[in-house]
Amino acid sequence: MTPIEAAPVLELRDVRAAYGRIEVLHGISLQVPAGKVVALLGPNGAGKTTALKVATGQHPATAGHVHVGGRHVNGCRPDALARLGVCTIPEGRGIFRNLTVRENLRMATYGGTSESVVLDRAFHRFPRLGDRRNQLAGTLSGGEQQMLAVARGLAVDPALLLIDELSMGLAPLIVAELYELVAAIAAEGVSVLVVEQFARTVLGVADLAVVMQHGNVVASGVPSDLQAELSAAYFGASA
Ligand SMILES: Nc1ncnc2c1ncn2[C@@H]1O[C@H](COP(=O)(O)OP(=O)(O)O)[C@@H](O)[C@H]1O
Ligand SMILES: [Mg+2]
Repeated sequence: MTPIEAAPVLELRDVRAAYGRIEVLHGISLQVPAGKVVALLGPNGAGKTTALKVATGQHPATAGHVHVGGRHVNGCRPDALARLGVCTIPEGRGIFRNLTVRENLRMATYGGTSESVVLDRAFHRFPRLGDRRNQLAGTLSGGEQQMLAVARGLAVDPALLLIDELSMGLAPLIVAELYELVAAIAAEGVSVLVVEQFARTVLGVADLAVVMQHGNVVASGVPSDLQAELSAAYFGASA
């Protein structure tokens, strides 16, 4: 270990954001250290998706700092952040339902990686997608669609993968399987920030968790230390 800590892959510091005149992030700070899985948790409306959008340049911060790999990136466009290695998997997965698995993956070759490399990588990691390469994405199961979204994200070799509501609409067994994949991806050195409304499965693989409520970060740390804060955020108990 070197005595000097590497800069976090992503850092939000005192970030504020608004829709029109209504502020919905009231000065949030969070970090994603290199090679770690960070869970961003909180009830519906807490501001999780907005925080991801600010981190990926899809929504402006009105105050505060966004750093990627130690660089100040406030005001950078999403494509510039993508070139710095930031890759988002949006809520709803962002796949093209009327294209086949293979055609969806082919769209990830714009970064210059060849199609055969993209397909080999994806099918090696997700053999089930290989079996279904010519199937329309809209006819895949929910879990397979999420795998396709993750495979497409990884095709561009990101340093940081941001996933919004990985488990939404999926059966618990499938969610557990996807989280094993997330852990494997992080073990290869990709940092992951994963947003979830419900905490249980993600906390099994997360190194750190950040809990949001009403546009503020109300707790952060290692998951085992956050039980009380999580119950308070979800059930309104006093912290
Ligand atoms: N496009 C939008 N226009 C106006 N308000 C929005 C928009 N998106 C989200 N909001 C509001 O911002 C707040 C945070 O939303 P969001 O970031 O989606 O929370 P979460 O992802 O935690 O459910 C909510 O009050 C929501 O109603
Ligand atoms: Mg959301």
